[in-house]
Amino acid sequence: MDAQAAVKTIRVAVCGAKGKMGQEVVKTVLNDAELKLAGVVDPHGLGESVNDFFGTAQEPGMQFDQDLKALLAREKPDVCVDFTNPDVVYPNTMAMIEAGCRPVIGTTGLTPEQLQEIDNALKSRGLGGMVVPNFAIGAVLMMKFAQEAARYFDHAEIIELHHNRKADAPSGTALKTAELMRQSQSTFGPTNSPEKEVIAGARGATDPANIHIHSVRLPGYIAHQEVIFGGPGQILTIRHDSMDRACFMPGVALSAKKVMQLQGLVYGLEHIL
Ligand SMILES: NC(=O)c1ccc[n+]([C@@H]2O[C@H](COP(=O)([O-])OP(=O)(O)OC[C@H]3O[C@@H](n4cnc5c(N)ncnc54)[C@H](O)[C@@H]3O)[C@@H](O)[C@H]2O)c1
Repeated sequence: MDAQAAVKTIRVAVCGAKGKMGQEVVKTVLNDAELKLAGVVDPHGLGESVNDFFGTAQEPGMQFDQDLKALLAREKPDVCVDFTNPDVVYPNTMAMIEAGCRPVIGTTGLTPEQLQEIDNALKSRGLGGMVVPNFAIGAVLMMKFAQEAARYFDHAEIIELHHNRKADAPSGTALKTAELMRQSQSTFGPTNSPEKEVIAGARGATDPANIHIHSVRLPGYIAHQEVIFGGPGQILTIRHDSMDRACFMPGVALSAKKVMQLQGLVYGLEHIL
């Protein structure tokens, strides 16, 4: 057997495969020699031919499934990538783990308690899993730089801007950014004047360290965020823009490969780069 044949192909299922992100993930898997498409799930695609929908000849006979559990039991994928919605991502993730499949979760909206449950379930089965609020390398760097800047600035606010089909607010990226900034400083805005909101919500949501988070939802945006730091006589703005969903795909492919070597939950792409 030559060295190339000895490399095991990772069988990847995609949940939410007809969605904006899911479609990109399927194309990424089809074009990656180390990954093999094991199946696709989406309630909007039941029975539809994968080859026809994605304009490929690579998967003759493969159809969209509607039931994730049925796909997991039938195909036993190594990894399942989920880009669905906040209402279904937790049961989906637990179903993957129960079936012995490693979750790679891009869907946002999981609570800290759910993340803990996922970690427990993964560890009890000796499996790895990843939950990644943002797969774009530029966004990961934005968070890292914001964490660093938070050591030097006492005042900071986050504005995240997304398309108007996004279900959850604030975004998972904004929550993760605030969490990282809290590791650098415990309270922001200490010298702000007392505030009275004339319209409730005018100052956005407030995280435990008093970082105000503002969510904008407009058609035309994909995923954008700026972290604004203020100090006497200066403003530092750290901004990331996702102009095309292609920016997330190298991170998804890397996660699908690295998760095979993990034990327990890894939260955030930065831990595997
Ligand atoms: N982590 C990241 O880098 C990143 C990047 C972009 C978007 N997101 C998140 O990914 C999620 C999906 O985003 P999108 O823009 O692709 O949404 P979308 O609405 O275009 O797609 C979601 C798809 O999931 C399908 N779906 C719903 N319930 C399902 C279920 N139970 N089983 C299987 N499929 C199901 C829907 O039919 C739909 O096709 C959102 O939570 C979004 O915030 C994360």
